[in-house]
Amino acid sequence: MASRPVLRTARVLLPATPSRLFSTTAPTTSTTTSSSSSSFSSSSSPTSPSSISQPKGDGQQPPKSTKGRKPLTPEQRTMLSRALRVNQAGELAATLIYTAQTPLVVSREPHLRPLMQHMYDQEEGHLRTFNELIHRHRVRPTALYPLWQVLATGLGWTTAMLGREAAMACTEAVETEIGGHYNGQIRDLLAMVEGWEREGYEVGEEFRSLIETLRKTRDEELEHLDHAVEHDARKAEPHWLLTGIIRLGCRGAIWVSERV
Ligand SMILES: [Fe+2]
Ligand SMILES: [Fe+2]
Repeated sequence: MASRPVLRTARVLLPATPSRLFSTTAPTTSTTTSSSSSSFSSSSSPTSPSSISQPKGDGQQPPKSTKGRKPLTPEQRTMLSRALRVNQAGELAATLIYTAQTPLVVSREPHLRPLMQHMYDQEEGHLRTFNELIHRHRVRPTALYPLWQVLATGLGWTTAMLGREAAMACTEAVETEIGGHYNGQIRDLLAMVEGWEREGYEVGEEFRSLIETLRKTRDEELEHLDHAVEHDARKAEPHWLLTGIIRLGCRGAIWVSERV
């Protein structure tokens, strides 16, 4: 089967995750670890200039712009909390899938060790990024963490037992869904930014950095998808059934993890 040139879209490898993204209160109030509720709710303060205040380092720098920032609406806060929650859950699942697959795949085909290690390392980086983000913004993790741990490990182990092609089909299916998922988030955030700019509001640098983080993550997920296809994902039997079930499961897990 031919590779998927359509997925070899712009791979903009961007700088590492910035230290602060869209903190909802002034950075000088740095006690951000005490609550399990969403940090986005803190923008309800009428004195808060915005829900996405500009990072100020030590709090001494003057504002970069005289334009104000529009506070997030409750819907936008909910959307952002859900995004960070589901992304963190998904990246945890990804690391567990590779953790379960790698020993079985590599024992049969040692030449795949660098590839499996590379994909795992990138997933671990994604997980670190979203762990940090949910901690910083006090977004609670999904309550179904233990369930996803069991299911992700089981999915990885089962597909690896079926063979290299099935393991790669698993990656193909997961990354197809996850790539689309990240694209949806990027579109939503860009729409928010465009709306603020249209209304004359300032957009915090941390917010733009979040979008870049999502783009970088999306690009790496699509790279995994390409690797999977190049390593015979579509030779898995029955490919349509295997990928169909996994994609359906991913969609369900995304939907639930955003909310629970
Ligand atoms: Fe990932
Ligand atoms: Fe991935």
